[in-house]
Amino acid sequence: MTTMHTERTVDVNVNGAHHTRTVPVRQTLAAFLRDDLGLTGTKLSCGFQVCGVCTVLVDGRPVSACTYLAVDADASTVTTVEGLAEGERLHPLQEAFVDGFALQCGFCTPGFLMMAKALLDSCPDPSREQVVEHLEGNICRCTGYEPIVDAVLAAARSARGAEAVGE
Ligand code: FES
Ligand code: FES
Repeated sequence: MTTMHTERTVDVNVNGAHHTRTVPVRQTLAAFLRDDLGLTGTKLSCGFQVCGVCTVLVDGRPVSACTYLAVDADASTVTTVEGLAEGERLHPLQEAFVDGFALQCGFCTPGFLMMAKALLDSCPDPSREQVVEHLEGNICRCTGYEPIVDAVLAAARSARGAEAVGE
């Protein structure tokens, strides 16, 4: 007789905190983050990997948490929007989004921020075209996109400036 394994234990580091949990094998990473860990900054909309609102980083790589399974994050490092700020200090991307009015309702913002972080981590000086291309899987119903692209470019400039000062 075949035994169905419906649960598995996962070890995952989320925003610097280590968690060991037994989860249903079909539980999505979004459900794990929101329901099990209470990290509701990661939003859910389409549920089909179409809108990008649920984007989080797994080992630095952007994934759609609405379809990515929690068990596949085992032994990984996950970063969500809650992991961007350092204490009271906003991440340069968050500052640029606020300063550049790159959000209105804000529902899409966590996904854009995480997607943009993935870009700037690997490409600190992107062209406008690279930003547009990188964000093409993220949908915003409010802003018209231009302020978001401007904010990502401003954050990149700000991060490079901070690095130069620290050199
Ligand atoms: S909710 Fe995951 S891509 Fe839309
Ligand atoms: S700010 Fe409302 S959906 Fe993007």
